[in-house]
Amino acid sequence: MKKIQIINGPNLNLLGRREPGVYGAAPFDDCLASLRRRHPEVQIDYFQSNIEGELIDCIHRVGFDYDGIILNAGAYTHTSIALQDAIRAVPAPVVEVHISNVHAREAFRHVSMIASACRGVVCGFGMDSYRLALEGLLGAE
Ligand code: DQA
Repeated sequence: MKKIQIINGPNLNLLGRREPGVYGAAPFDDCLASLRRRHPEVQIDYFQSNIEGELIDCIHRVGFDYDGIILNAGAYTHTSIALQDAIRAVPAPVVEVHISNVHAREAFRHVSMIASACRGVVCGFGMDSYRLALEGLLGAE
């Protein structure tokens, strides 16, 4: 069975309550349940932390073993060279995900410190960004 790790970074524990006009009104659990229903053939694990080092530890923990990582690093996307290094350190392909279209927002969100180390990037499709990333990973050779 393929194993995919979803990692959500800072403030994404508040999905459903945080700026619903930008990030939607549903908690992440709904998205996770729907991904698991849609892809019962895949083991989909979930981790969320507001702490940069814990995100890095999770990448280290799964990155030598899992078939892929879906990473919404939240605001660390725009700042973290340490996350970029962690992504480069492991063989598992990583897809950078954003719920919102970061390129249609403030200029500081147009820069990603992690995209160059990722297999691909999905942004702007709401919670569907996670499904598109998963299906991209599953379809990738
Ligand atoms: C986000 C976009 C980031 O710029 C922001 O800091 C987030 C969420 C998104 O999913 O749209 O926390 O990653």
